[in-house]
Amino acid sequence: MKFSRARLAKELAEKAQAYTASVAFDRRLYRHDIAGSIAHAKMLGQQGIISPKEAELIVMGLVSIREEIESGQFQFKPEMEDVHLNIEARLIEKIGAVGGKLHTARSRNDQVALDMRLFVRDSIQEAIAGLKEFQRVLLDVAEANKQTVFPGYTHLQLAQPVVLAHHLLAYFEMFERDVERFRDCLARSDVLPLGSGALAGVPYPVDREFVAKELGFARVSRNSIDAVSDRDFVLEYEAAASIAMMHLSRLSEEIVLWSSSEFGFVEMDEAYATGSSIMPQKKNPDVAELARGKTGRVYGHLMGLLTTMKGLPLSYNRDLQEDKEGLFDTVDTLLASLGVCAGMVGSLKVNAVRTREAAGKGYILATDLADYLVRQGVPFRTAHEVVGKLVSYAAEKGKALSELTSGEYRSFSPLFGDEVKSISLESSVASRNVTGGTSPGQVERALARSREILGKSR
Ligand code: ARG
Repeated sequence: MKFSRARLAKELAEKAQAYTASVAFDRRLYRHDIAGSIAHAKMLGQQGIISPKEAELIVMGLVSIREEIESGQFQFKPEMEDVHLNIEARLIEKIGAVGGKLHTARSRNDQVALDMRLFVRDSIQEAIAGLKEFQRVLLDVAEANKQTVFPGYTHLQLAQPVVLAHHLLAYFEMFERDVERFRDCLARSDVLPLGSGALAGVPYPVDREFVAKELGFARVSRNSIDAVSDRDFVLEYEAAASIAMMHLSRLSEEIVLWSSSEFGFVEMDEAYATGSSIMPQKKNPDVAELARGKTGRVYGHLMGLLTTMKGLPLSYNRDLQEDKEGLFDTVDTLLASLGVCAGMVGSLKVNAVRTREAAGKGYILATDLADYLVRQGVPFRTAHEVVGKLVSYAAEKGKALSELTSGEYRSFSPLFGDEVKSISLESSVASRNVTGGTSPGQVERALARSREILGKSR
């Protein structure tokens, strides 16, 4: 049985069939396809478009097809083109010609748009769950490192000391924005396209609101042409996934750096480290590297679909079938990356001695000295210049700031009192007591707020 070739005398060429068939990948939509068909059949029965008895037969047939698929008994056939036709053909095989009534008041164009929206809705929930889990891990590691002095960088040059918790909570914020982005995307995915037919709407007294309610959609689409042409919700998912992967990639890059012997800030748990096939001493951060690497292909899927969409005239075009593999791979890559990176980050061993040592190098307290002079009434620009000269003097002498005598300090400004000697990593960190800053009190507040965010979403 071949649907949709009634007016075509010839069989589809084998090459053309292989080229156009999508069932190899869109079979992944079977649950969504069946759920959509069940809701549609119920509505047809209720509206008297088909008889209630026929609707019941169709629903029962669909339920048993779902069981066949889930128990591995279902034979997907490439000659049946896609998941929709495979399931419909099997339905007719099982319950007879009445199965052919399911496709009343429907087209594959609104059907596939529906399946994709159902799939994206589920995938958004999974992405949010993955992000939340990752945030929980970040929060745990942050809690354990409230007092771990850590070198803060700008331009990858030592800048100012922070605590590691503060640095990690920066990622917590990024992932919170990702959660928000996925929620925004959910709001626009949550629209029922069914009832749009091929493009113009359907000539039957359908109850679209009923179908929307059955499937848990917030509303029905307002324009049938848009509804079958639109893949913005896929693009938005892929854009949100790309940004989340970018965040994960930045963290991965830092972990790659931190775990090198040059930095030595963290040690990778062996369960997340790989060896080298040639160099026995190696403990490689391959998980982090792959998360960084896979970010590229997620961006690629976004660019791919944007490019597919850009030249399409309204309404449905077969090009739209190209939305699927990229989306599926994006979903899989994002979820796998979040999962494995959560494990990797949660099991990192932090070397607080090394991070403190690194923070103590490179005149990292120079800004604090300038701020000290400012508190004595010196304009900041002048203070900046005085300390700049002091630092180059110390560098020339090969001395750390702490090794300079009070006399040496005072030769640069008489306003340097003996208290400058008590400026330390801790005092520097403690002084950043501003909302969003790295002081112990502010970090406690940030931790509490982050816990609250996670608690609410549980
Ligand atoms: N496999 C198709 C897709 O993914 C389903 C819709 C086909 N519609 C059509 N008129 N050929 O886009």
